[in-house]
Parts: sequence; structure tokens; C-alpha cells
Amino acid sequence: MTATPPPAGARSSAANAAALAAVACACACAPASDADDPSIVPPLAGQEATEAWLAEGHHLAWTCEPAPRAPLALSPHGRARACANPVAVALGPTRVDASYVLELFEGAAAAPAGYGVQRRTLDGEGGDAWYWYMRVPPGSATIHDATGLAADGWGFGDGPAATYCTPCHQRAGDGQPGAAFVFVVP
Ligand code: HEC
Repeated sequence: MTATPPPAGARSSAANAAALAAVACACACAPASDADDPSIVPPLAGQEATEAWLAEGHHLAWTCEPAPRAPLALSPHGRARACANPVAVALGPTRVDASYVLELFEGAAAAPAGYGVQRRTLDGEGGDAWYWYMRVPPGSATIHDATGLAADGWGFGDGPAATYCTPCHQRAGDGQPGAAFVFVVP
């Protein structure tokens, strides 16, 4: 499965680095937005980079639900635990670089068997404002390839990020918990 290219207007790494430097100089109080700092945001570079980043465990220092729990009504993700980055916690899901990781658990296992990731890269109310990534456990009913990959890219075009993740997540806040594509705020 190939990653969806970023939508027009998505920030480049160079722009991110420049913006991060600007933020760091301008204000040391708010979480850096528009950042490339791996302790704050997941990468936007596809499966290998995302898996390496997850293996490094950066999200474990974010704000997380205390323990895995049963899925909410709409959720196809099974037993799960959500974590939110400092941008999301301080500024909410409408802020660029707000990011979330969902740990996916199989059966009663204590270690995650898969992960969902969403990171906002643009202002706006469409799924294309978000980068979506998911690797599911082998037995998952969510459609995936041989490596477990279920989505990797932005929510536009014809990939699963657009056709699967986006339509359900846009219901957050619409008769469902949450807001702006995010159901759970730990
Ligand atoms: C049919 C609805 C549905 C689909 C499809 C879906 N999700 Fe979710 N997702 C949920 C619900 C409901 C939650 C709330 C947490 C829970 O109960 O697990 C959630 C939680 C999450 C979270 C934690 C942050 C949040 O928004 O609450 C991430 C990250 C996530 N999903 C990623 C994805 C990705 C990536 C895809 C596509 C591969 C996807 N989801 C597809 C319903 C859905």
C-alpha cells in the first residue's frame, strides 16, 4: 500500500523546521505547534517511519487514558487506549499538529498489538486536514494488507484514510462524543 501524498498546502519538513524555530524563539510557554519534534508529533512519512516512531514510545509521555477499555459504540478498534499530544491537550483538535495515538489490544493481552495515529496538518473541517495511520492486529476485521497496514495517508482521494477513517471520524461531536474528528480526549 502506498501512502497518499500530502494535500496541497500541507507543510513541508523545511517549513516545519523553520516554524518550530520561530515558535521556540517567540514563546517558551505554549507547546510548539507546526513541529517536527518526535516527542511532540508523529512523522508524516509513511509506515516505516511511523512504526519506528511508535517503537520509540514517544506517545507514552503524552496524556493517556489510564488503561485499555472497551470500545465506544461506533468504534471498530476493539479494546483500546487513547493518548493525546501536548498540542491536543492544550489547544484541542482544531489546532494544527494536534495528534492522537490509539493503542489497539487483542483479547486480554497487556501489550498493544496495533496502533492508530491521527495528526492534524491543516486548518479546516475535512478529513484531508488529517494524516491517518493504522496497523491492526492480524485477526482484525478492519481491512488490512499482509503487514497489518489499514491506512497510511491523508483523508482525500480513494485510499482508506479517505474512504474508511474519515467518514466515521467526522461523526465525532455529531450525536457522538468528541469534536472535530476526535472522539476521545484522554
Ligand atoms: C466506524 C467508525 C470508525 C472508523 C471507521 C475508524 N474509527 Fe478511529 N475511532 C472511532 C471511535 C468511536 C473512537 C473512540 C475510541 C474507541 O472507542 O476506541 C476512535 C478512536 C480513534 C483514535 C483515538 C483518537 C480519537 O479520535 O478518539 C485514533 C487515533 C483513531 N481512531 C484512528 C483511526 C484510523 C487511523 C482509522 C482508519 C484506519 C479509524 N480510526 C477508523 C471510530 C472509528
